[in-house]
Amino acid sequence: MNKNVVIFASGEGSNAQKIIDYFQHSNYVTISLIASNKANANVLTRAKNNNIPTFVLDRELFYKGNEIVEYLKSIKTDLIVLAGFLWMIPENLIKAFPDKIINIHPSLLPKFGGKGMYGMNVHKAVLAANENQSGITIHLVNEYYDQGKIIAQHSCAINEHETVASLSEKVQLMEHEYFPKAIEHFLAAK
Ligand code: GAR
Repeated sequence: MNKNVVIFASGEGSNAQKIIDYFQHSNYVTISLIASNKANANVLTRAKNNNIPTFVLDRELFYKGNEIVEYLKSIKTDLIVLAGFLWMIPENLIKAFPDKIINIHPSLLPKFGGKGMYGMNVHKAVLAANENQSGITIHLVNEYYDQGKIIAQHSCAINEHETVASLSEKVQLMEHEYFPKAIEHFLAAK
């Protein structure tokens, strides 16, 4: 049976692109919508280039009332994928889609998660703490930042001369490789 996946993203959208590419010819997964909190986010251009409907989230509507939930239900959303999404997910959305919202985080949670831990900030914090490994975590979203059940985790070594740029590149390659597959496995297990 076809599953409708909605992606929420705030910026560049390189992960969204990999997910779009991975499921492009799938008979059972459709990327049905890409939503962003930023009208000029590159991820929305990527969506348009791939003929995927877009939606710009309004902060008022997102945090008050139930319109967004109703809209996502009306388009029969099976899974919401956060691919670099900056806003905290409100409780009504979490309750309306229990165990149906997943996020990717660029570190080995529970380390280096929480408020403000986004993108480069995460890699900076990992290096500042002299860690010898980092990686990616794909997890369910609950009402606490970066604390939902972990679905998949992959690690990489941090070498002696690692920089924020080199670590970010390494982690991004892992995200691109593993995130679409994790989504596929997660949907297949449902
Ligand atoms: C990704 O590295 C993702 O792990 C991170 O934002 C980046 C988005 O990149 N998410 C977080 O840090 C969540 N706390 P992209 O727009 O190129 O996909």
